[in-house]
Amino acid sequence: MSENVTLSKAGCLKGELRPPPDKSISHRAVFISSIANGTSYVKNFLSARDPEATLNAFRALGVDITERKNELVIAGRDLKGLKEPADVIDCMNSGTTMRLLLGVLSGCSFFSVLTGDSSLRNRPMARVTQPLRLMKAEFMGREDGRYPPIAVKGGKLTGITYKMPISSAQVKSSLLLAGLNAEGRTTVIESVKSRDHTERMLKTFGANISVDGLRIKIDGTNKLTGSEITVPGDISSAAFFLAGAALVADSEVVVRGVGLNKTRTGFLDALNNMGANAAVQIDGDHRDEPQGDICVKYTDGLKAITLGRSDIPALIDEFPILCVLGLRAHGVTEVRGAEELRVKESDRIKAMVGELRKMGAVIEEYPDGVAIEGPQELHGAVVESHGDHRIAMALSIAALIAKGETTISGISSVEISYPGFFENLRRLIV
Ligand code: S3P
Repeated sequence: MSENVTLSKAGCLKGELRPPPDKSISHRAVFISSIANGTSYVKNFLSARDPEATLNAFRALGVDITERKNELVIAGRDLKGLKEPADVIDCMNSGTTMRLLLGVLSGCSFFSVLTGDSSLRNRPMARVTQPLRLMKAEFMGREDGRYPPIAVKGGKLTGITYKMPISSAQVKSSLLLAGLNAEGRTTVIESVKSRDHTERMLKTFGANISVDGLRIKIDGTNKLTGSEITVPGDISSAAFFLAGAALVADSEVVVRGVGLNKTRTGFLDALNNMGANAAVQIDGDHRDEPQGDICVKYTDGLKAITLGRSDIPALIDEFPILCVLGLRAHGVTEVRGAEELRVKESDRIKAMVGELRKMGAVIEEYPDGVAIEGPQELHGAVVESHGDHRIAMALSIAALIAKGETTISGISSVEISYPGFFENLRRLIV
């Protein structure tokens, strides 16, 4: 894939598409199938760089994974059956791979080392190594296990009760996976509910897990049984086209087969609160993860919204595209309580503020968010993705409403979550 794309103001976006399979659920399908007993079948798995990192990791841990047409067949080995990897495991750009693996490997009685690309090696890991150490896990790593590479000497774990200081599904999932292999019970208490795909999938595989509001309990010595998973479309990938339809005059876009788990649909609520009509039709028959179709039409006169700390987890990955919507909304759109964005694949607050300013935007930057007074006009510019897939895709949508041409560099980063993004975008542009 070339590293640059040039896009101009679009006439309109029209048509239908299926977004790629959900990235978070694809990761979890490999994790949970690999540590279950017996064979699991994963349909509609996301074939993209991040989930590939998880696949490679479990292969290195001795799990036999066969890729068939639109299906993975995973021969689960049980937690006890994973084997010591012969080399360092490269989690590439994937925070989910590394954080969840730290939870799994803590309880496996062998030595392993995890590393990643330059972005991942600068992302904070103490959020998982610190509570896992309370469970008696042993790590060595840069800055005492705060940054990768991190070496794990797995062993016997003890269940803990842990109140999470930040809302993070990666931390929660890491502790629950460690809890599966710990003595006694592990209780994780969230501050704000984050995506609950791990809890749902563990239940499907027969784990003894209970969820009571923000409190999740899991017992050690849990035996998981292989199962069948169908991954729904990724709402975080669909969000770019839903926003595009709301922003570009005369547009109408339908995205089909999108995951509609309530812990992920904050962006749809935001769109509706801005006055864009996101019409949702839920499909009847989906056991674990609800899914359906979403239709969005162009909205003249979007309204500004205010989002605070409790709103963030359900739309954490949609911040870049929300900034673009904010530029077109009447009034001041404010996002606060979102300092977690500073430690994503890039510093997403800094990246969006800096790149949109190059396109003429006036945005105020806070340590934990932004304020954007709209509506504003954008002009074409040369902008960059900061190696971050969601920044590349959000800037591509911004380019469609900017006067003139916009060149976006670093676009191969879309391969992390949405390899066909530009093909799908070109099909919709009329
Ligand atoms: C993810 C959780 C979120 C999200 C990330 C994927 C997951 O991160 O931003 O893209 O799959 O659990 P945090 O859990 O750190 O908020």
